[in-house]
Amino acid sequence: ALGLFERKQLAGQRVLITAGPTYEPIDTVRGITNISSGKMGYALARACRDAGAEVTLVSGPTGMPAPLGLARIDVQSAREMYNAVLAHAGQCDVFIGVAAVADYRVKNRAEHKIKKGDGAPALELEENPDILATIAALPAAPFCVGFAAESQNLIAFADAKRRRKKLPLLVANLAQHAMGADSNEVTLLDDAGEHPLPSMDKADVARAIVQHLASLLAQTKN
Ligand code: CTP
Ligand code: CA
Repeated sequence: ALGLFERKQLAGQRVLITAGPTYEPIDTVRGITNISSGKMGYALARACRDAGAEVTLVSGPTGMPAPLGLARIDVQSAREMYNAVLAHAGQCDVFIGVAAVADYRVKNRAEHKIKKGDGAPALELEENPDILATIAALPAAPFCVGFAAESQNLIAFADAKRRRKKLPLLVANLAQHAMGADSNEVTLLDDAGEHPLPSMDKADVARAIVQHLASLLAQTKN
């Protein structure tokens, strides 16, 4: 029997993925960011590519090289990520938000390096756009997959997030398990319920997500 990748379960699908953290400048040399290695998003981009999809990866700063065989767009801030995703959303069938997007940016960002002698700066924060919720609410929305990193109440918080953002599929994980690690333990949440997966290497988690995604896409078509 042919396995997942021999069967190219995502052949003909155009997949847009966000990965990594975003970086919100405070001044020219400092910023606010989230802890995110980008490993899960990159593993998912590779798994989609290996399953035959045409992949566009919008990546925050991770320091990782671009995987072969896909298009990578490099961004820094959440607003840059938002603009890059919106520019490509019309040409994709699936959107997967893996990025740890900063929820706030600095409103009073300094044009020059802030000097210590000037006293502690008071940062004014303003909310960033929710990229995933925006894409999921488009009139011709692609099939949207979200990630939820929680530190407690995993399933309850993640399920509320899935409903709020109107996502057919959400991947829930505990931030303390996932952050920076090579392995991850996730639960897939969809309209049918909860699907817990064992702790595995991120490449294997990514393949399992692709398999689940492909089966949901096949159901949507029928
Ligand atoms: N996300 C996004 N744009 C944002 C914030 C989040 O696209 N501005 C996406 C993430 O990529 C992820 C999902 O939304 O797929 C959930 O992100 P998360 O930070 O867990 O949820 P929030 O809705 O931001 O809620 P909170 O941080 O309060 O838990
Ligand atoms: Ca958030």
